[in-house]
Amino acid sequence: MAINKVAVIGAGLMGSGIAAHLANAGVDVLLLDLQKSFADAGVTRQLKAGGFMDPAFAARITTGSTDDLGLVSDADWIIEAIAERLELKQALYAALDAVRKPGSLVSSNTSTIQIAALTAGQSDSFANDFLITHFFNPPRQMRLLEIVAGPGTRPEAVSIIRDFGDRRLGKDVVLCRDTPGFIANRIGSYWMAAAMNEAIRLGLDVEEADLVLGKPFGIPSTGIFGLLDLVGIDLMPMVLRSLQAAVPKDDAIHDHDAEPGLIARMIAEGRIGRKSGAGFVRLSSDRKSREVTDLATGAYRPQRPARSESLDAAKGDARALMEHSAPGGRFAAFVMERTLFYAASLLPQIADGPDAVDQAMRSGYGWKEGPFELIDRLGASWLITRLAARHLTAPAYLTLAAERGGLYSVIDGRRCCLLPDGSMRPVHRPAGVITLTDLARAKAPVADYGSAALWDLGDGVACLAFRTKMNTFSQDLLVAIDAALDLVEDRFGALVIGSDAAAFSAGADLRIFLETVEKGGPEALGAFIDRGHSTFERIKYAPFPVVGAASGMAFGGGCEILLHCDAIQAHAETSLGLVETRVGVIPGWGGCKEMLIRQSAMASAPHGPVALAMAVFNLIAPARVSGSAFDARNLGFLRATDGITMNRERLLADAKEKALALLPGYAPPEKPQFRLAGRSGAAGLRNLVDGAVIAGRATAHDRVLGYALIDVLTGGADADPLLPLDEQDITDLERKAFIDLLAIPESIARVRHMLATGKPLRN
Ligand code: NAI
Repeated sequence: MAINKVAVIGAGLMGSGIAAHLANAGVDVLLLDLQKSFADAGVTRQLKAGGFMDPAFAARITTGSTDDLGLVSDADWIIEAIAERLELKQALYAALDAVRKPGSLVSSNTSTIQIAALTAGQSDSFANDFLITHFFNPPRQMRLLEIVAGPGTRPEAVSIIRDFGDRRLGKDVVLCRDTPGFIANRIGSYWMAAAMNEAIRLGLDVEEADLVLGKPFGIPSTGIFGLLDLVGIDLMPMVLRSLQAAVPKDDAIHDHDAEPGLIARMIAEGRIGRKSGAGFVRLSSDRKSREVTDLATGAYRPQRPARSESLDAAKGDARALMEHSAPGGRFAAFVMERTLFYAASLLPQIADGPDAVDQAMRSGYGWKEGPFELIDRLGASWLITRLAARHLTAPAYLTLAAERGGLYSVIDGRRCCLLPDGSMRPVHRPAGVITLTDLARAKAPVADYGSAALWDLGDGVACLAFRTKMNTFSQDLLVAIDAALDLVEDRFGALVIGSDAAAFSAGADLRIFLETVEKGGPEALGAFIDRGHSTFERIKYAPFPVVGAASGMAFGGGCEILLHCDAIQAHAETSLGLVETRVGVIPGWGGCKEMLIRQSAMASAPHGPVALAMAVFNLIAPARVSGSAFDARNLGFLRATDGITMNRERLLADAKEKALALLPGYAPPEKPQFRLAGRSGAAGLRNLVDGAVIAGRATAHDRVLGYALIDVLTGGADADPLLPLDEQDITDLERKAFIDLLAIPESIARVRHMLATGKPLRN
């Protein structure tokens, strides 16, 4: 069954966010609430909150009132996201069952109610088609989707939603058992409760608590109190109480107070976190510095730099940290030992294997490793000894892990995990996913260049993965790309450029860049530019198809290399941009040239050479970056023929497919010609820049950059719209502008400032 139309009922925080994300996936959405105006308000809220990858997608949502419930009759999937009250949900289901299409799927976004209670009293056919789909907030960004099936749920209902959630919505789908809080919130809430209570009991500094509970365990740097501020301190007692009410009396979550005195006081005083402007952290009254809540007194005091004696002594090592006797170490040990103990005691009750739990904590709470991966890192035997010292008897699963020497291992090139019954099975991977991490377990790369590696994706397709910091370009990386191109030409049919890394590439390595200018002067800089340029040209005119697999950020040179590929397959959340002006230069590796080509080929192509120069200028001068791949398509960084992948883990597989599709009869692109605006067009554009400077929208150095950019985009002083230029002409202009700009102290100041602060200097 194909899902083409989805109805979402309840347009609050979650329902409106889910509706927006369904629209991102290209689905027609019906969004209903008690009144149509509530549903409209939900769409408006998502437009403001960035729930849409392209604001135009809001048009895919039709709003209405539940008074016209019959509107859902053509929906393939109905998602209920109304208030968390069982009787309201049950009444809605009965009404829905009377109007829904036979065989349509119905799911609830409930976070606490179990499926048995939700379906009690409903028809058998309703129970057959019903499941829980638990999205996390915000639905566009949060990767986790927990699915719970009841005893009556038909297996196809699960497989359809699982596949749709994965491929179309881009989620990491985890199948959970029907237990309170499912997986992520059961363990996440326990961890938060333990951490909050213990830090308060010890009177620890908020700064230290967040520091020791963060990086050493691969947990986001918000730690515990940063996270409480983010989600809302007032929610914590509610969540914990509802969980405590739902779990058995002997569940360890009862060991922790749902609302310690300090939390009650902060809620009473309205200090509930970021949404109220004050929580564990707030801005000082002059708004110049930050203050934090002293956990011992409850009063605010100036924020201190985060440091921890235990963490220093442990040199960042998690085990050494937990063994250290100062309060920071004791705190980390208490929280993590108990959390890992708790997780181990819940298997197989909440999931069929450790991989589901680990995935849920990685995708739902942003942990780098889930609790079972952490147990493997720390050592199950070591953990058992630590628990014994606390008079805690290790759960059977933990003892089993210690006996077997760990939970995860690689068998025949596949990552496998230990199940509570003692058997091993491969870690669950959705079919068709390709990651280099998986590949590395089975085989070595075809070539390892240090700064990059070449992998065999099968079917004659190679994958070139950069390996520098933030995948920035150095001389080494350029040399590696050249070597890889030779090898691909010899041994493969097509090339994908991409990897599992969060960032595709942040551009040229500024440190190397600065060094080149300072030590070698314009000549060395020219050589670096020429090197990059010739490599990128080789990619463009290679005798085999090259597909760029873009994800995360692709800025500056990272964007330029993509623009030289035959096609781009981009993850939906990719941010692309030619951001060179932020560091006082303009694109020098063909970025100006390729954007002229792309803009003239767009369906809404600018009319005439002046409009063309202006369109490209408006992208490069303000260093515009896309908010999503769809936005990048609107801006012209992506062509209509470039692909967009919703699930990050499917990016390399989709890029490989794209490369294979280009393969039959492949011929490199023809050399383009450019008709540019020339001197008179340039004069008009310079006037616009002057106007922006006078109006205070641009700085004096912006003007210098603007003029240089205009010179390239209009073809230089000798250009004439009637006389076409070739690629080399534009490349020469880019190169000259680049070198000239870096001879100006204001440009160098921008580079230095970016290196020192990570932020652009506006001089
Ligand atoms: P909310 O209070 O923001 O929105 C609920 C919406 O449902 C409101 O717009 C309300 O007018 C509407 N509504 C109430 N009764 C209705 C009815 N009978 N028919 C039609 N509309 C009705 O709530 P929120 O936070 O969006 O939660 C919705 C569901 O999602 C709940 O089941 C909640 O447990 C669950 N959830 C919430 C998360 C969160 O972070 N807030 C995360 C995951 C799940």
